[in-house]
Amino acid sequence: MFNWLRKIGGDPSEREIKRLQPILAQINALEEDYQALSDEALRDKTAEFRGRFEEGESLDDLLPEAFAAAREAARRTIGKRHYDVQMLAGAVLHSGRIAEMRTGEGKTLVATLPLYLNAIEGKGAHLVTPNDYLSRLGGGWMGPVYTALGLTVGVISHELAALYDAEYADPLKHPDERLNHWRPVARRDAYQADITYGTNNEFGFDYLRDNMVWEPEQKVQRPLHYAIVDEVDNILVDEARTPLIISGPAEEANQLYGVFAMVVKNLVAVAKSQEDDKNEDIDPNADVIFDEKFRVVTPTERGIDKVESMLHQMNANFTGSIYDPQNAVLTHYLDNALKAQFLFHRDDQYIVNPDGEIVIVDEFTGRLMPGRRYSEGLHQAIEAKEGVHVQRENVTLARITFQNYFRMYEKLAGMTGTAWTEREEFQKIYDLDVVIIPTHRPMIRADQPDLVYKTEDAKFDAVIEEIAELNASGRPVLLGTTSVEKSEHLHELLERRGVPHEVLNAKQHEREAWVIAQAGRSGRDLPEGEGHQSRGGDARAARGRMAAGEREVRARCRPRSAPGRPTCARHRTSRGAPHRPPAPRSLGPSG
Ligand SMILES: Nc1ncnc2c1ncn2[C@@H]1O[C@H](COP(=O)(O)OP(=O)(O)OP(=O)(O)O)[C@@H](O)[C@H]1O
Ligand SMILES: [Mg+2]
Repeated sequence: MFNWLRKIGGDPSEREIKRLQPILAQINALEEDYQALSDEALRDKTAEFRGRFEEGESLDDLLPEAFAAAREAARRTIGKRHYDVQMLAGAVLHSGRIAEMRTGEGKTLVATLPLYLNAIEGKGAHLVTPNDYLSRLGGGWMGPVYTALGLTVGVISHELAALYDAEYADPLKHPDERLNHWRPVARRDAYQADITYGTNNEFGFDYLRDNMVWEPEQKVQRPLHYAIVDEVDNILVDEARTPLIISGPAEEANQLYGVFAMVVKNLVAVAKSQEDDKNEDIDPNADVIFDEKFRVVTPTERGIDKVESMLHQMNANFTGSIYDPQNAVLTHYLDNALKAQFLFHRDDQYIVNPDGEIVIVDEFTGRLMPGRRYSEGLHQAIEAKEGVHVQRENVTLARITFQNYFRMYEKLAGMTGTAWTEREEFQKIYDLDVVIIPTHRPMIRADQPDLVYKTEDAKFDAVIEEIAELNASGRPVLLGTTSVEKSEHLHELLERRGVPHEVLNAKQHEREAWVIAQAGRSGRDLPEGEGHQSRGGDARAARGRMAAGEREVRARCRPRSAPGRPTCARHRTSRGAPHRPPAPRSLGPSG
């Protein structure tokens, strides 16, 4: 659509790639020298770069040599020499932008370059992955490269913080060597490493926990310096507004709920009639005016005087007016007590069950909602009104969205197979530009356009039909879905159709690699799962094996409709789910 514009201005990515050519030439010119270095001399390069950085050379100045060193370290240790296009991608990541690289182009290896260069500053560098398995795999795979350069690598995952140590052998004896050398350490030590791999969740929650500690020494993170976000569209766009929340019970149930429940019982409430909208002549006996329709209740002057005199009688510490600054918290209890007393009625909005608990009644369906509580202290106020046990409040102790977390890094970069279509959002929200990196070899994969169906059932029927055909001809199929439910539904449909397959969904990341590898071998198994197909790692090896006539079917709606792309079937079905705000991820303070 904008091709003519690009022709006039030149494709911005192509221009950028061109601009980087002289740097690439510099790196390549150093290759022979670096190949001639002994292992020790190569390792000493890091100290040399650090010294020169201290003396005032910039990371940009050091880039060609640092990249040459990292390429040489990778060649020696893991037998992979960064391709030229990977060098370019590394430079893009160093500049704090997003490198769009096709799937399988080697993003894991690319990241070593900018991580190494930015770790020279000694302030830490983070590689953010979508799940714990990919953190351990990526860090463990590249561990030997960093070790050869004299750097330490840590991993932060949910149940483990560890440092890469080639000497260490995990007692679990993973079949995959790359997972076997993580020596458990304190979380703080994993963050002290030159480079740290971890998920967005773990980094985010550690940040929140650090904000709750009493002593600065208890913090595990250092100031957020540099991060590369892998699968950046997934983490920074799809999950941008997902809040991370740490909550916990308040110290103790507050007695003020009981005090105010008692106080408001003595007030005379008058319903506001629709006519006296202007409120001209308020009933002189009214302490409180309430409006059921608009769900508001307000005390009158007279009511406030009454409340204050009762508080004075009950508590000698109470002085002045309830609206004085020193009494600010009291108005919160008064408001809740008034609502509980005059707007929330037993057996209407809630019931009191035989266990003495307040259970909310859904106002639309009339169904009970056990376990749900009104927020901001209202539930406690109702408990006090009914004279049942007032439960401790569950208060939000700390909260942040991914968007706000990642914006705190001094420098942020990202990589993914699909960023260009989201470039405006990246630019607007994160000030991140996207550069498309050319593939190492010309693309042979055929990307088919989306097919749009009127209903989800019609879509799934067509998917099953196509899979059955491909399977009959002996071609392996990888089927991606957006949720566990969908993968299970498709699993049922495939069963019914008698098509052999394997199912993978959330929480089986490690098994995933194995199943996919089997699929590549047998040529008949059909792995199918939720959102996993472009999420890196070992899918690679299997993909290689599946090359003979591989076919990937995505029964998956594009999570976001992008300009120029058809809307997916899900958005068109009559029972399509309405947009919902992302569910928060919560954690207790100890979790
Ligand atoms: N320079 C290289 N030389 C040899 N092999 C390479 C090179 N770069 C990458 N590879 C291989 O390519 C495969 C894909 O790498 P990787 O998983 O990092 O790709 P990716 O871009 O992250 O893909 P995905 O989109 O699946 O996450 C790996 O098996 C890796 O060893
Ligand atoms: Mg990857």
